[in-house]
Order: sequence, then C-alpha cells, then structure tokens
Amino acid sequence: MQLLPEYREDIPRVERFNFVARLTHWSHTVTFLLCLFTGLVLFLDSVDWLAAIFGGYAGAGLVHRISAVIMTLSILFFVVFDFKGIINWIKDILRFGINDIKFVMLFPLEFLGFPVKMPPQTRFNGGEKGNSIVTPTCVILLVLSGYIMWFPSIFPAGLVRVAYPIHDIAMVLATVMVCMHAYLGSFHPGSGESFWGMWKGTVRSDWAQHHHAIWYEETYGEKAKTESAD
Ligand code: HEM
Ligand code: HEM
Repeated sequence: MQLLPEYREDIPRVERFNFVARLTHWSHTVTFLLCLFTGLVLFLDSVDWLAAIFGGYAGAGLVHRISAVIMTLSILFFVVFDFKGIINWIKDILRFGINDIKFVMLFPLEFLGFPVKMPPQTRFNGGEKGNSIVTPTCVILLVLSGYIMWFPSIFPAGLVRVAYPIHDIAMVLATVMVCMHAYLGSFHPGSGESFWGMWKGTVRSDWAQHHHAIWYEETYGEKAKTESAD
C-alpha cells in the first residue's frame, strides 16, 4: 500500500515553500517532538521506559532544554531570513472568508470519503488557516512559559506559578493539533502532494490548481502573467 503519492518530475510543478520555510518547518518538527517526549517524561513522572530512552529523568530534562533552545533559534532564523514570507502568511490568514468557512464545514464529509465540491482556496485553506493561528500561538506560549519555568529567579513568583499550567495546556492543545496536522499533511488521501511541497519545495501544478485555485491563479495563472508583463 502506497501511503504517499509518488513524487512526479515528469508533470509540471510549481514552488510552494522556499528553502528557509522548509528548513524551519522540519527543524521545528524534530525539536517539537523531542520537547514533547522529554516533557511527557517530566509531566507524567512515572514513565520509566520513556525516561530510559533519554538516559533517565535528568537526561530528559537536559534534552528538553537543548531542543527548546534549538527550537527558539529556528524560529528566530525564520523571522530573520524569511520575514517577507511570514508577512505574506499573515496576510493570507487575514483573508479568512466565506470560502474558508464553507471549506471547514465541508471538510468532515470529505474526510469521511463523501464526494464534495470544495470552494476555491487561497494559499492556505480554511483548516490550514485555523492551524496557522492555533499551533503557532501554542508554541509561543510554550516558549514564553518554558523560559519562565527555566529561570524562575528572574521572574515574579506569581508568573512562575501560572507558567506551569500554561505550559501544560499549550502542550496538550498543540499535540492534538499536530497529530491531526501531521496526518492531513502526509497520508490523508488527496492531500499527500502537500508533503512534497514541504519536503522538496514544489507541488504538481494540477494539484495546486485543484486544491488552492485562488493562490494558483494569483501566483502562476494568467492573471499573474498579465500583471508581471505590465
Ligand atoms: C522554548 C521552548 C521550551 C522551553 C524553554 C521549555 C522549558 C521547560 C522547562 C524548564 C520545564 C521544567 C523542567 C523540569 O521541571 O525539569 C519544562 C517542562 C515541560 N515541558 Fe517544556 N519547554 C519548551 C517547549 C516545550 C514543548 C514544545 C513541549 C511539548 C510539546 C513541552 C512540554 C513540557 C512538559 C509536558 C513539561 C512538564 C511540565 C510539568 O511537569 O508540569 N515543552 N519545559
Ligand atoms: C510531524 C510531522 C509533520 C508533517 C508531516 C507536516 C506536514 C506539513 C505540510 C505538508 C505542510 C504544508 C501544507 C500546505 O501545503 O499548505 C505543513 C505546514 C505547516 N506545518 Fe507541519 N507537519 C508536521 C509537523 C508540524 C509541527 C510539529 C508543527 C508545529 C508545532 C507544524 C506546523 C505547521 C504550520 C503552522 C504549517 C502552515 C499551516 C498549515 O499548512 O497548516 N507542523 N506541515
């Protein structure tokens, strides 16, 4: 059984994510998962087999902090080297409109295998726009509360106290989002091509036209060609 669609170079492709966005996404994914598993060791306090993978509870604490620093650096790297990309991402989220609402309402049916006609989407569909708000917000909360917990002596005691539940709630919410997101961005039938966009940088033009018609038309279609010729 083939889980991901084949990467086809013989079919026209268009760029979806540049190198900086891809490097940030995957370094962030690895560090997020390391923080999650080492964090669970500290959170659950009785998972000896998981602690053993990281060399015990102290080892898990160390891997947690190292991964946290690399995660922070990769976020800063993204801000410094692809600031324009972040602004364009925010602009796309702000375009949330009726087509996105329809997408989110129809998506459960599509997920269950019913044939549905989705309205045309911009660069990110309605669900991805939601993910773009919820997951990064949770990550920002994890980073802020994490450093407060790490260096409690330089922050007010009340702030240190609330940092713990904030870190835990953001961890649970982000993990639920990432589980759904990872499946939809890889093995979910029909959307697997998006994985190649994040892995190699390009997606099939026909897939882009079908899944992100507005983005495709504005970036690569006749409208874009006319505008660049003017
Ligand atoms: C910059 C990012 C982060 C920093 C600085 C950070 C820092 C910390 C620190 C200092 C602790 C306390 C460790 C101890 O008690 O020895 C902690 C605990 C924890 N972290 Fe993080 N963390 C970060 C990101 C994450 C992420 C991304 C996750 C999960 C997705 C996560 C999940 C947890 C969990 C579950 C705990 C245990 C909390 C508890 O015992 O109530 N952390 N973190
Ligand atoms: C674990 C495996 C993961 C896979 C397979 C995966 C896959 C993908 C793919 C294919 C895209 C591009 C979707 C598109 O074409 O628009 C994407 C975007 C994105 N990813 Fe991931 N990802 C993973 C983990 C993560 C993690 C851990 C985070 C953050 C904590 C994350 C945050 C995002 C965000 C915010 C976007 C842009 C919004 C969106 O498309 O939903 N991803 N991911």
